[in-house]
Amino acid sequence: MTDHVLVERPEAYPGVQLIRFNRPEKKNAITRQMYARMTEALTAAGTDPAIRAMAFLGTEGCFSAGNDMTDFLAFAMGGSMGGEVLDFLRALAGATKPIVSGVDGLAIGIGTTIHLHCDQTVSSARSVFKTPFVDLALVPEAASSLIAPRIMGHQRAFALLAAGEPLDAAGAREAGLIWKIVEETAVEEETLSAAARLAKKPPEALRIARDLIRGDRSDVLARIEEEAKHFAAQLKSAEARAAFEAFMRR
Ligand code: COA
Repeated sequence: MTDHVLVERPEAYPGVQLIRFNRPEKKNAITRQMYARMTEALTAAGTDPAIRAMAFLGTEGCFSAGNDMTDFLAFAMGGSMGGEVLDFLRALAGATKPIVSGVDGLAIGIGTTIHLHCDQTVSSARSVFKTPFVDLALVPEAASSLIAPRIMGHQRAFALLAAGEPLDAAGAREAGLIWKIVEETAVEEETLSAAARLAKKPPEALRIARDLIRGDRSDVLARIEEEAKHFAAQLKSAEARAAFEAFMRR
């Protein structure tokens, strides 16, 4: 079976652990197994002194289309959601090492909100950031309801998270969701180079600086849990099930 999440230590970028979505045939939609693999990688990175920065990448033209709709539908039909998504969000929000992400193309749902937990996000101009939570009868996740208004203000956060308005790369940069825009062909190199530059810095000073800049994360972790309760309840709603079935039928 193909590994849908690749975890690598690229030789050319010492000290960097790369987590790459590798399911392009499904637009890098994230399954429970993929969340579990990413949690494992994030957790291992936290205790491995050789890993000093982390990077997230997708594939050409697609970062991720968000949570796998088949998994959503299975839960809506009465299946178990498992703890994989929440475990991943906790590990991501609690990460102690810097995270750089690189986006080329689609970034939907968690494919957008993941960057709120990254420290530097590189994007191509053709990227689109979108969170159709409410259109799917769902609610914002990953503490996006807390972090996004903080960084971009209520109006832009509402447009993104509640109204489901897409943000292009220029809009995402202006809103403070991403760091910089580069050529499509340069996304990977710029992402990994930025991570490698961080990996060369004095780790303890960088850790403290990052903690100070991010601030106390207890409210972020609490919001993840609060959102998750609403999310789970909404997943079981008739309106959500109808939305997932409509996606499957399209
Ligand atoms: N979960 C599961 N499969 C997904 C998926 C998702 N989130 N997003 C895309 N796919 C699959 C499609 O079902 C399709 O599979 P198939 O070829 O076996 O039919 C394949 O990926 C390609 O997607 P397709 O819709 O044909 O490509 P597109 O370029 O026309 O559209 C998207 C791409 C991402 C805009 C569209 O697929 C989409 O809206 N996906 C859902 C995104 C979403 O709402 N995510 C959840 C956010 S909370």
